[in-house]
Amino acid sequence: MEQNWEQLRQECLACTNCKLSATRTQVVFGTGNPTAEVMFVGEGPGRQEDEQGLPFVGRSGKLLDVYLDTIGLSREKNIFIANIVKCRPPENRDPLPEEREACLPWLRQQFKVIRPKIIVCLGRIASQVMIRPDFSVTREHGQWTEKNGVWFTGTLHPAALLRNPKQKPMAFEDFAALRQKIEEICDHTY
Ligand code: URA
Ligand code: SF4
Repeated sequence: MEQNWEQLRQECLACTNCKLSATRTQVVFGTGNPTAEVMFVGEGPGRQEDEQGLPFVGRSGKLLDVYLDTIGLSREKNIFIANIVKCRPPENRDPLPEEREACLPWLRQQFKVIRPKIIVCLGRIASQVMIRPDFSVTREHGQWTEKNGVWFTGTLHPAALLRNPKQKPMAFEDFAALRQKIEEICDHTY
């Protein structure tokens, strides 16, 4: 597996399959444990992610790490974190449909190697791409959907929580429910 994974990573880092390749500094492949049972999927790199080549290292990443820590998860240990698009959209605009389509094969290949049991979508874009095109994060956050033996849920994006701290208790509940789900169906996360 290690070789497949490293090969996948190297290929991805050289990707020019959409025009975001022209404006990125670095491809953000993802980070964490490739044998994790739980995967987090965000929208796309922001400025700091683009500079460092790592996902969720800016302010919203710091907040994400706090939530992860409350339920015993960390990128160093038992999860993997990636994004729908792996290169930064200019000015942090939403990734365009054609950019998502071009980039999704990388995420699918990551799923194939990691074979996560749980996929947590961070924010609207990831939830709508991974769960359902009309998924409403504010109304349906924390709900679970099973597809081909994998459990999906969507929660508020940490950047949204920074803009609107009143939503923090909602996210907190989602993480508590996530811990329960992990305890139910995962065997080496905790
Ligand atoms: N927001 C995202 O969706 N992904 C990142 O990697 C950073 C911020
Ligand atoms: Fe390739 Fe994805 Fe980057 Fe587009 S966003 S260049 S498809 S890695």
